[in-house]
Amino acid sequence: MPSLVPPAMAAGSLCRSPQPSVPVGTTAVLRAWQLSDAEAVVQAFGDPEIQRWHVRRFDSVNEAQHWITGCNAGWAEESELNWALVDRASDSLMGRVSLKSVKLHDGSADVAYWMVPAWRGRGYCSQAVIALCQWAFTDAGFHRLGLEHSVANVASCRVATKAGFHAEGIRQEAALHADGWHDMHEHALLAHHLPDTWAVSQTW
Ligand SMILES: CC(C)(COP(=O)(O)OP(=O)(O)OC[C@H]1O[C@@H](n2cnc3c(N)ncnc32)[C@H](O)[C@@H]1OP(=O)(O)O)[C@@H](O)C(=O)NCCC(=O)NCCS
Repeated sequence: MPSLVPPAMAAGSLCRSPQPSVPVGTTAVLRAWQLSDAEAVVQAFGDPEIQRWHVRRFDSVNEAQHWITGCNAGWAEESELNWALVDRASDSLMGRVSLKSVKLHDGSADVAYWMVPAWRGRGYCSQAVIALCQWAFTDAGFHRLGLEHSVANVASCRVATKAGFHAEGIRQEAALHADGWHDMHEHALLAHHLPDTWAVSQTW
């Protein structure tokens, strides 16, 4: 059945190349996940805040390796794109930034992130989100990036705002957490409506 509208991004436009690394300032880089990150993933998911907002934990390195394998399969399938944020000097894990729910036809995806506790509060998450969005719009050809978080997750809302995402509204009781249903705050960024602050962030 032929589509009446050509896709915003052609199938294969991402996976025909290896997943790129994306520099984040001078300190950090977003790179593809490696199986050797599994121990650090288990430790990260030992954090109550990551468990709270991502509603899962890992009970073994084996489980984390399975998750990492799935992360990297997402690039080949062009379904979800996952990066580890690592310290350039030591290659130690700082956090994760992902583009979930990739829809090539609409040129859209949803941004997700967490940071390991030791690296929080220093602006790296916001910088990494901006760097990945710049890659997504400029290099990959995405048209729209969404971002949602629980209305109770104030730090995540601040990251979205610092990265220049516009608030679009609230989806009532859209996500089930350990303490019940959460209203979800929706944000988005469009390729032709990028924030002026990004020019400044390039110098971070
Ligand atoms: C949300 C998270 C990724 C932010 O990481 P980070 O490295 O601290 O992010 P940044 O340093 O780039 O920015 C954080 C901002 O939130 C603010 N912030 C942090 N905690 C806050 C709180 N409880 N209330 C209000 N603002 C808060 C910080 O002050 C900072 O804003 P500022 O630069 O204007 O001062 C991190 O807290 C985390 O991993 N949390 C657990 C997992 C999670 O919530 N993931 C997102 C799910 S949608």
